[in-house]
Parts: sequence; structure tokens; C-alpha cells
Amino acid sequence: MKRSIKNITLISTFVLSSSVALIASDLTKAYDMPDASKLIEKDLLKEPTKFTMPKSCNLDDAEAIKRGEFFFHNLNGKKAKGEAPKGVKKFIETKGKDGKMKKKPKQYGNCVACHNIEGAKGGGNIGPDLTGYKKMFVDTKTRDAQFVYQKIADARIDNPKTHMTINLTTKLFDESEICDLTAYVMSEKKQTKEK
Ligand code: HEC
Repeated sequence: MKRSIKNITLISTFVLSSSVALIASDLTKAYDMPDASKLIEKDLLKEPTKFTMPKSCNLDDAEAIKRGEFFFHNLNGKKAKGEAPKGVKKFIETKGKDGKMKKKPKQYGNCVACHNIEGAKGGGNIGPDLTGYKKMFVDTKTRDAQFVYQKIADARIDNPKTHMTINLTTKLFDESEICDLTAYVMSEKKQTKEK
């Protein structure tokens, strides 16, 4: 009898002290809680940013136009259409079937997902059709190089509610790559029947 009373006392002391410990302990330390505000800040798009087209942009450079064309028509994550032109800077390394590492050009232009243009295969229609851009917008002086450069770099300056991807503010592309895209959009292109 004496022993069982002692046991009950022991058990109740244990229950009491452990519940006190539970109340007192700081539960936030029990989980790994990332600081969400930092994550959100990192994901937030930076303010709309104005850019001036660099003087080094050579819009008549045939190689720049070729690179711009390559960026424009290639979709992220898909097999690259065509050979990477000279001067394309970004590559991803993948292991080929033979086990050797292979360098493949990295694509993320995605322009053709929203825009139709000469030679586009499955061009999207979320953005305006850019076919005949030179004749329609450049030669008529409706648009100039600075406008096109800014549009591709950060379309929000011209249109705060744009649905277009932001390319320079986000560093998806660098300045010289925006030059390449500007050169391509503004260039004279052969009309093709492909769509
Ligand atoms: C998610 C869809 C989308 C993608 C991707 C996209 N655009 Fe656009 N683009 C638009 C929309 C919508 C407009 C028209 C509204 C606006 O100006 O913001 C536009 C407008 C433009 C214009 C302006 C045409 C004019 O003179 O009014 C140019 C030039 C252009 N895009 C080039 C590009 C290039 C180059 C790329 C690839 C780097 C690209 N766009 C990717 C949706 C897109």
C-alpha cells in the first residue's frame, strides 16, 4: 500500500513537471522555421527599371541578329532549334549517352511562346505579331531602337500592366543579349510561309 502511494506521487510529479516544461519551452525552436519575409523579398520582382540602350549595341551586326533570332525562337527546356550562333554565352552541361559531358546552349528566350514572327513555328498570340516589324514600325518611325530595347529589357516602363516577361531587371538576359534581341526584332527578315 505504501509503495503504490509512492508510485502515484512519482507519476503525478512526472506528469506535472513535464507539462510545465512543455508550457515553458519555446516551440518555435522545435521546428526549422525559415524566415519567410526574406524568401518573399527574394522572389519579388524589382521595381520597373528604365534602361538606356548601350552605345555598344550594333543593330546592323549580322552575328548579333543571328543570336537574337536564336534566343527568340527557342523555348526554355526544349531541344535547341538550330546550331548555337557565334557568341552565345550560356551553356548547360549534360551527360551524353556515351557518358561524356556535352555542352548545350541554354535557352530561355521564350519570345515565340507569345509572339508570331517570320519563320516562327507555332508562334503564340498573347503578344502582338511582330512579323514585318521593320517595315511597319521602324521605317515609319513609330518605334525606335530605344523603345524596343526598353520593351525587351523591362516592358513595365511602357505598360505597367504588361503580360510580357521582364528580361533585364531580372537578369534573365544581360545588356548585350538584349541588344541581340533588339537587333533581330528590328532587322529586315525574309518572309516565310512557315507558321
Ligand atoms: C508571356 C508573353 C510574352 C513573352 C514571353 C514575350 N512577350 Fe513581347 N509582348 C507581350 C505582350 C502582351 C506585348 C504587348 C503589351 C506590352 O507592350 O506590354 C508584348 C510586346 C512586345 C514588343 C512591342 C511591340 C510594339 O512595338 O508594340 C516587342 C518588341 C516584344 N514584345 C518583344 C519580345 C521579345 C524579344 C521577347 C523575348 C525575349 C518577348 N517579347 C517575350 C508578351 C510577351
